[in-house]
Amino acid sequence: MANKSAAIGVFDSGVGGLSVVQQIQAQLPHENILYLGDTARVPYGSKSTDSVLKYTRQCADKLVAADVKALVIACNTAASVGTEVLRASYPNIPIIGVIEPGASAAVSHTKNGHVAVIATESTIAAGSYVRAIHALNPDIEVRTSACSLFVSLAEEGWVDGSLVEAILARYLNPLFQDPEHHPDTLVLGCTHYPVLKAAIANVVGPRIQLVDSANTTAGQLKVALTELGLLQDEASVGRLQCWVTDGPERFIRVARLFLGHELDPNLVQLVDL
Ligand code: DGL
Repeated sequence: MANKSAAIGVFDSGVGGLSVVQQIQAQLPHENILYLGDTARVPYGSKSTDSVLKYTRQCADKLVAADVKALVIACNTAASVGTEVLRASYPNIPIIGVIEPGASAAVSHTKNGHVAVIATESTIAAGSYVRAIHALNPDIEVRTSACSLFVSLAEEGWVDGSLVEAILARYLNPLFQDPEHHPDTLVLGCTHYPVLKAAIANVVGPRIQLVDSANTTAGQLKVALTELGLLQDEASVGRLQCWVTDGPERFIRVARLFLGHELDPNLVQLVDL
């Protein structure tokens, strides 16, 4: 039986999943978090389903072996192919992937029943957002686009300015050009896209509602822990510890952008999967 003081395990292909950690810290400040970033093998977004599934299992196995009380798949690409597989492997641990919370936020935000989803190539190819949205409401029209350059822009810290907006527009404009199908909601289906949110909003305009799953994922995690009586005592102060599979220096440097604050370098450790 899991214990309340155990950490929540969160994993991602690299540093981007810290955007989900930021929301977990905001909503669950008493929880300890053990974050695993598979920085040696990032990006997952252009890899085959078989490879992503293999990496996803390895990340989950590593965190489960550390006795985490819940698992959050912060990587959209990993969640897209691995959520059900991990739930079958670990039926006694709550497993929250980012796809369902993102889909449910989109369904509750759209007023005209037209939703657009942007994500990595692998996430779009897996069709997971379309399935998750249709599971909630089969009448919603979903249009998708793989925005391959966005991850690199975000990691470089290129998050604003006319050059960045011109690149974003190349990917985003086609989603909004059909007068018969004009989405009012855009799902940011990738860990890295929240840091580009302001630039994306400039490109698509103020009438499009931007939805990212970090916030709703943290909300679903809170509900799951509450239902299972696994919330950490309020007297404790949550601690974030990070494991990475490649040199920690770059991770520590880029982390601030996604986490909103500096990482304590002493809490970042190199591990093998
Ligand atoms: N974490 C990935 C995702 O959310 C983006 C980076 C990658 O391609 O690995 O899909």
